[in-house]
Amino acid sequence: MQRRNFIKQSSLTIIGMSAFGSLLSNNKKAGATLSVNGKRIESRIFELAKFGVDEKGRGYRVAYTKSDIEGRAWFMELMKKAGLNPTIDTAGNIIGKRKGKNASLKPIGFGSHIDMVPDGGNYDGTLGSISALEVIEILNENNVVTEHPLEVIIFANEEGGTIGSKAMCEGLTKEGLQQKSQSGLTHAEGIKALDGNPDNLESCKRNKGDFYAWLELHIEQGGILEKENIQIGVVEGIVGIVHWEVTVEGFANHAGATQMNMRQDALLAASKFIIAVNEVITSVKGTQVGTVGKINVQPGAYNVIPGKVVLGLEIRDLDAAKIEILFKEIEKRAAIIAKESKTKISFERQPNESKPALTDKKLQQAINTTAKSLGFSTKFMQSGAGHDSQHIAKIAPAAMIFIPSIGGFSHSPKEFSTATDMENGANVLLQTILNLD
Ligand code: GLV
Ligand code: MN
Ligand code: MN
Repeated sequence: MQRRNFIKQSSLTIIGMSAFGSLLSNNKKAGATLSVNGKRIESRIFELAKFGVDEKGRGYRVAYTKSDIEGRAWFMELMKKAGLNPTIDTAGNIIGKRKGKNASLKPIGFGSHIDMVPDGGNYDGTLGSISALEVIEILNENNVVTEHPLEVIIFANEEGGTIGSKAMCEGLTKEGLQQKSQSGLTHAEGIKALDGNPDNLESCKRNKGDFYAWLELHIEQGGILEKENIQIGVVEGIVGIVHWEVTVEGFANHAGATQMNMRQDALLAASKFIIAVNEVITSVKGTQVGTVGKINVQPGAYNVIPGKVVLGLEIRDLDAAKIEILFKEIEKRAAIIAKESKTKISFERQPNESKPALTDKKLQQAINTTAKSLGFSTKFMQSGAGHDSQHIAKIAPAAMIFIPSIGGFSHSPKEFSTATDMENGANVLLQTILNLD
């Protein structure tokens, strides 16, 4: 399906769900003059960065590790001070609530995550989390009580497969819970380490209609906004993500005594496979991406022909069907490579995949109008990164606000966003919430 049709079709269903008919008709509230404390946001970004620096100086606040647990404790302390009375649901998500004037209304939810990829940066997820807290503090300091209750959520293990939000919106499978996470723990063990309860995930489930709206502020993680000199990105859709473990089996043999034409070199076949992935992904038009980001070579010695290689393959696109078509092509290429190299190539689809999601049209407009009213330039765009919001989008009108990532670096220590851009994004978050309210 062409991306444009895909967006049009899916958004039709979303418009029906949306409840923002009179949106922005009443935005001249006391809150319209409020603004966030940009310095406080920036200093907290730096404070949180201190949790999870490993012995090599790398950012390593990987979900379920000691640093993640310590970072979460620090964050919960701040939530407590802000009167949010944080609790941890059975999936390990941190949840803080602020009462509204009208308890019968559904809450406006916002937040993000504070775990990071290995050797990651200090802005991915943390900006949206710290800014969510900032919104609450600004409302507290100005004695503003919204009509709707507010709910801040810091999701558990976003980077390892959006685990917390998936548990909350669609549930985790037994297989998914037993999958090994980056920390070395299975997700079930990791959720326990976060004081969740993997045996009772039913009770963390949220249903359609549980939120009036959901918003997530995030860094763009690509270089479009910076290149085009745009201050605010309005996210239209978030890509689906599927992972496969690919095993190439050859035969480990003597690297000196085995002639070149007698080999079943698993790494040579794996190398051809990696190139084939790139060729398949780039052979069709569109913004799909495919990556082999993991490799394990066995037995791994100078003088032994590699007998087995295990690879991690990822494909992303906004169209779930396109991901399947591309994978089928990759499988075909793998079969040819296996035959030619006398190896066996097999695929194991991994649990915890993420479906593509579109954000709510009316919320997009709310963000856009709010950002423009604050004097910011805006652009409607896709997210090539996965986000917790893509799961929330299944149960609530959800949308995302992007700010520029300098140089387009992310999942890297070079990740950076300016204090001004962070402040701008947080102000758009604050004012969008007030406008929605
Ligand atoms: C999460 O940041 C992802 O896109 O993998
Ligand atoms: Mn993120
Ligand atoms: Mn990330």
